[in-house]
Amino acid sequence: MKFLIINGPNLNMLGIREPDIYGAQTFEALLDFIGKACDEAGVEYETFQSNHEGAIVDKIQEAYGKVDGIVINPAAYTHTSVAILDALKTVAIPTYEVHISDISTRETFRQHSFVSYVAVETIAGLGFEGYRQAILKLKKYLDEK
Ligand code: DQA
Repeated sequence: MKFLIINGPNLNMLGIREPDIYGAQTFEALLDFIGKACDEAGVEYETFQSNHEGAIVDKIQEAYGKVDGIVINPAAYTHTSVAILDALKTVAIPTYEVHISDISTRETFRQHSFVSYVAVETIAGLGFEGYRQAILKLKKYLDEK
């Protein structure tokens, strides 16, 4: 079973970016954490980060027929991108949505997520642990499907 883990814009700046909201750990530490969570779940994985909406759409399209599950933190595109929502609907690969912060208690513009229309579940506000939970839950979801 193979998962694609996608991180959207500015997440490559973790550790530097608003540490009071996103924590002091770096993006490299997140990738390491994701790798360990995928090992724990017993799944193969690929990670992808981009600051560009179209590149994320391209990556989701390329996953068609090759990937069993997607975990995505669309970052700012969560709140704006019908294109990413449509790409996820197009490939119809089961998807979990993750946010490091709790978007439901932040600014009003962060409280709406386009990706949540297609996500099996959205996990927010748990920091890096949210990715681990998403990976383990996605594995269980696919096993039971
Ligand atoms: C985020 C929340 C978004 O509102 C924000 O634009 C991000 C990160 C999170 O992980 O908490 O870039 O997705």
